[in-house]
Amino acid sequence: MAREKSKDNEGGGWRRFLWNPEKKEFLGRTGGSWFKIFLFYLVFYGCLAGIFIGTIQVLLLTISEYEPKYQDRVAPPGLTQLPRAVKAELSYNMNDPASYKEYVESISKFLETYNGSKQENRELFENCRDFKGYTDRGALNPDNGKKLSCMFSREWLGNCSGLNDPTFGYKDGKPCVIVKLNRILGFKPKPLKNDSLPKDVPYIDDAIPIYCEGKKDEDKPNINKIDYYGFGGNPGFPLFYYPYYGRLLQPQYLQPLIAVQLTNITIDTEVRIECRAYGENIDYHDKDRFQGRFDIKVEIKSS
Ligand SMILES: *[C@@H]1O[C@H](CO)[C@@H](O)[C@H](O)[C@H]1NC(C)=O
Ligand SMILES: *[C@@H]1O[C@H](CO)[C@@H](O)[C@H](O)[C@H]1NC(C)=O
Ligand SMILES: *[C@@H]1O[C@H](CO)[C@@H](O)[C@H](O)[C@H]1NC(C)=O
Ligand SMILES: *[C@@H]1O[C@H](CO)[C@@H](O)[C@H](O)[C@H]1NC(C)=O
Repeated sequence: MAREKSKDNEGGGWRRFLWNPEKKEFLGRTGGSWFKIFLFYLVFYGCLAGIFIGTIQVLLLTISEYEPKYQDRVAPPGLTQLPRAVKAELSYNMNDPASYKEYVESISKFLETYNGSKQENRELFENCRDFKGYTDRGALNPDNGKKLSCMFSREWLGNCSGLNDPTFGYKDGKPCVIVKLNRILGFKPKPLKNDSLPKDVPYIDDAIPIYCEGKKDEDKPNINKIDYYGFGGNPGFPLFYYPYYGRLLQPQYLQPLIAVQLTNITIDTEVRIECRAYGENIDYHDKDRFQGRFDIKVEIKSS
């Protein structure tokens, strides 16, 4: 009996809680009370949203479209190569053009941007051959007009320019690899002093040198000889190409290139080659295979 009653109370209690007809309460509150709560939260969240939007607006007002505002520590640039091969592995048969077609096309396509005919506009390009140090082109905004870019002539890549040999040495088992430092807005690579460079790395005035070698000791005897092509015949990225002013101010900017040709690499052997750029503010990172360096595996088959 007692049990039944309490059960009855419970059911009635719930229903009463949901809607109490005597006090006209819904879920324990009257309409007016609910309305006040609703109003409170409306104002409360309204204010929060207002503060949020206001902050974003103020931030946007102070951001220039041309200049990254919060970039006090510019990430060091990556060193990358062309052809961009799967798993950084160049493997082909020198007697089968189809096996290296993809590599040749990838370099060829990339270098079209460097065709002389595309650099003739004197309002966009200038010859920086005699410049010293970095090229200051004014503030990072369009106020003082268009930013010029330095020309980079395809011919400087010599036997890797594709102008004499459209296969970039691949058919002769002397493959070329085009090396570039990724563009970073405002970045000025600092060269190392002659005496801080490792023994075999060449010192080049006003340039960031690169140097390639066998990744492991057992690779070194299989490489024999590496030819480099770049501005002034040097394996270096000249400082006058820096800093880069960004996609909006310098849409036609050309990164300096260096071509690396493996002119006497052992055939039918897997060889690992590592290239590095040497500069004071160019770092390497164990976990990042492209930061300031890259390595590729090359295997040229004779049949
Ligand atoms: C670039 O130059 C190469 C070699 O002279 C030529 O074969 C190619 O058609 C040119 N490409 C463009 C897009 O001008
Ligand atoms: C370029 O290639 C040609 C033909 O293979 C060769 O005679 C010449 O020595 C090479 N140039 C350089 C600078 O290695
Ligand atoms: C750099 O140092 C090396 C060895 O210390 C020396 O042989 C070479 O002449 C120097 N090069 C320049 C450009 O100072
Ligand atoms: C290529 O390297 C081998 C092994 O070191 C050497 O015997 C040969 O003379 C080199 N060939 C050329 C053309 O330099």
